[in-house]
Amino acid sequence: MNSDAIEISGSGFRYPAFVGRGLIARAGELARNATDRNRCMIIADQNSARYFGDRVSESFSSTKFSSQLITIPAGEKSKSLTQVEKICDAMIRAGFDRSSFVVGLGGGVIGDISGFVAAIFQRGIPHIQIPTTLLAMVDSAIGGKTGVNLQAGKNLLGVIHHPALTICDVDALESLPPQEWRQGYAEIIKHAIIRDAKMFHDLSSPQVPNHRSGDALVDLIRRNIAIKARIVSVDDRETSGERALLNFGHTVGHGIERATDFRIPHGDCVSIGMVAACAISMKRAALSADERDQIVALLKKFELPTQLPTEVDREKIIDAIAHDKKFLAGKIRFVVTPKIGEGHVSSDVTMHDIRAAIKEL
Ligand SMILES: NC(=O)c1ccc[n+]([C@@H]2O[C@H](COP(=O)([O-])OP(=O)(O)OC[C@H]3O[C@@H](n4cnc5c(N)ncnc54)[C@H](O)[C@@H]3O)[C@@H](O)[C@H]2O)c1
Ligand SMILES: [Zn+2]
Repeated sequence: MNSDAIEISGSGFRYPAFVGRGLIARAGELARNATDRNRCMIIADQNSARYFGDRVSESFSSTKFSSQLITIPAGEKSKSLTQVEKICDAMIRAGFDRSSFVVGLGGGVIGDISGFVAAIFQRGIPHIQIPTTLLAMVDSAIGGKTGVNLQAGKNLLGVIHHPALTICDVDALESLPPQEWRQGYAEIIKHAIIRDAKMFHDLSSPQVPNHRSGDALVDLIRRNIAIKARIVSVDDRETSGERALLNFGHTVGHGIERATDFRIPHGDCVSIGMVAACAISMKRAALSADERDQIVALLKKFELPTQLPTEVDREKIIDAIAHDKKFLAGKIRFVVTPKIGEGHVSSDVTMHDIRAAIKEL
């Protein structure tokens, strides 16, 4: 495997993730090494198509692929069965078959829906991920989770379908709005808390600016992909509990998302959720007050919220959590951190602890 690539492997899957600069221009060449197929549908949203559609298409045609680009509206609403049907109909009309493949070009919405299309189109064809948001690079383009939303909730339909290749061109992030950077940093800080004390202290250092670029950004993304890859390699289907660690801050975070009808972005909800998880970790996992304060300070440094807006109904959050899918046989599986750099799933956390932590937010 090329030295620029991080290998992501586990039982039944093995693929490279390339992270670097100028990789969109090399997408066709990298895809050539990953597949012997010749025809692909590139799925993008309006923004990723506008910024990168031409360049990706040119790179594919210069390496003798026959490619077509399909664009869907930007935003979470597009992660729907209606859009899946539209994309699949367009593929059938254009003569795509089992010997073709799908490329997802965009943020996590596009990664999830394009992966789902790849997983089900004629019972499954390969998928290549070209993530263009920080969140997609460090989180959603790694690990094979694909899917769409239902009226009843987010990500309720889905399949694990690992990509054949992930290409992260950090130059693509130049056009990313500040709010989207924050969403990625929330997941990066989560990775640091559960698995990487050194990265936590590097990010916290006053010498480190909160907006990285160039090689420092390449290194940061590689480091985060490696963390997620190590977790997914042992537990891609979330059976042993290892992958559940990635839910740190997410139990309360998802509750806030649902209670506010998804008006607050995911990363912001997870940030507030991590503050609640710290309060619970102090009680149930002996996290020190000093380390809790360091976590809150790091979230603030990256302009992430650490308190709930006063108008949000606390009881609604508690109700939403009570219905959360992470309750296994009536028991709460809550991810706690005993110290920065370590996380584990605890079954000692009670609904009372969660309620108390939410009241303090
Ligand atoms: N599969 C997984 O394991 C996993 C993990 C985490 C999140 N997710 C999913 O990811 C989704 C969120 O992903 P997201 O935060 O990337 O959101 P997104 O895909 O909606 O992208 C955010 C916005 O940025 C725009 N955009 C994308 N690339 C850009 C660029 N380079 N420059 C300017 N604008 C750009 C998009 O058009 C969109 O408006 C959610 O649906 C979530 O459920 C999946
Ligand atoms: Zn998340």
